[in-house]
Amino acid sequence: MAGVDVEILGRVLSTLPDDDDHPYRSGPWRPQSVERAVGECEVIGELPADLDGVYLRNTENPVHPALTNYHPFDGDSMVHVVGFRDGKAFYRNRFVRTDGFLAEQDAGKSLWAGVAERPEDALRRDGWGARGRMKDASSTDVVVHAGVALTSFYQCGDLYRLDPLTLDTVGKVDWGGAFPAEGVSAHPKVDPVSGELLFFNYGTEAPYMHYGVISPDNELVHYTDVELPGPRLPHDMAFTENYAILNDCPLFWKPELLARGVHSARFHRDMPMRLGVLPRRAGSGDIRWFEAESTFVLHFVNAYEDGDEIVLDGFFQSDPEGRGSVFPGEQSYAKMFRMLSLDGLQTRLHRWRLNLVTGRTTEERLTDSITEFGMVNAGHAGRPYRYTYASTGVPGWFLFDGFVKHDLLTGAQERYRYGDGVFGSETAVAPRVGSRGEDDGYVITMTTDVAEDRSECLVFDATRVGDGPVARVRLPERVSSGTHSTWAAGAQLPGWRTAEDPAAAVGLSSP
Ligand SMILES: [Fe+2]
Repeated sequence: MAGVDVEILGRVLSTLPDDDDHPYRSGPWRPQSVERAVGECEVIGELPADLDGVYLRNTENPVHPALTNYHPFDGDSMVHVVGFRDGKAFYRNRFVRTDGFLAEQDAGKSLWAGVAERPEDALRRDGWGARGRMKDASSTDVVVHAGVALTSFYQCGDLYRLDPLTLDTVGKVDWGGAFPAEGVSAHPKVDPVSGELLFFNYGTEAPYMHYGVISPDNELVHYTDVELPGPRLPHDMAFTENYAILNDCPLFWKPELLARGVHSARFHRDMPMRLGVLPRRAGSGDIRWFEAESTFVLHFVNAYEDGDEIVLDGFFQSDPEGRGSVFPGEQSYAKMFRMLSLDGLQTRLHRWRLNLVTGRTTEERLTDSITEFGMVNAGHAGRPYRYTYASTGVPGWFLFDGFVKHDLLTGAQERYRYGDGVFGSETAVAPRVGSRGEDDGYVITMTTDVAEDRSECLVFDATRVGDGPVARVRLPERVSSGTHSTWAAGAQLPGWRTAEDPAAAVGLSSP
């Protein structure tokens, strides 16, 4: 890139073949092995001066061939940051130095079995995850709590702590020695008002789930059992001002196979979904379970209290086993990947109303459009809200080809499509500095453009996303596709305001 200084921060060992043709290690999923920094990126259009903070994106980025079958959730964590201040943007990408990543860098090969492999095939007997013996890749989500970025693993594991500007791995969360042996699941939730972090975990031993609360001072202040009828595979939770909302979806490992150490998930259409409502600091005896139509929910969007009711929004799956998914590539992959595509799962925005007085659930489909990965203005998390920005998927693939702004008050939808061969990341909402309304700000995504072999970070005006980006930030290398992202305002980040130039403070800006 002419006129832009790109600093090479590091190169890690990759033993992947140059002609790799695995569908989730090639094309838009081509992994990276070089870490780079750009102090001031090239910008097409004009970055708004009131866009202030960092967009963080986690990606699954493998560096070694799998033992047998690679699944995209197995990839090592590479986090990308695009920082915005004073109408300029800086960029960095770094691997998270997880224990597993470091051990496999030393060994020069994969040591643990992935989600599509048999645990007994692992070369190491230790490991993490609800099913055990997996590498904690920490490549699923990224959130910012108490000024520190935390990366997570989709099946429960450690939380790795990253400097949100430099992306240096600064260790694992231990909460003063109170970090639970069962780990933390992929989606811990930050309450923007209380500053608390809410989380759950799950596993194959009774009570099968726990729920906990971390204070703004980073202490474990609450931890309780949540008794489930058996091992479950919950991925997400929700919260309101006063309640945590957990779930018992009827998609779980077949018990007879699980007894033999085989992890094969099946959906039980004849069983209801159950939603558990727990006062945020209460014990397991106070949980109230609400039954709802059978489904599996991968991601909830938000929840809030409305009189006697809790309003919970998320994505209902009409086909949680993805049997209708048609993977367009080699058919030996089709079964392995059928639970990855939004069209296969038939994911639609859905609202559950849980009445705390009558104990009744009412529910409704909010739209026929197939979307998932709904992001909201984080300042409205747990509180009444109106908008969610959710991704649209490429048929058969775990790839996003655009996004929809859903107006939950009017039902209106505004769409943007990235273009042929261009795939986006989860869209985070960045409130404008001095924001006066829920959509008074920007929507951010990071694209992978296979045809042009490049990536950009796109900035949309949240009030008119259909018009396309107001600015595009050029990144130094094509970024591998990935899963989750977040936004953190500069005001949340230590050193951001006091630094003359936050990019310089982390050694990024040229003099
Ligand atoms: Fe997720």
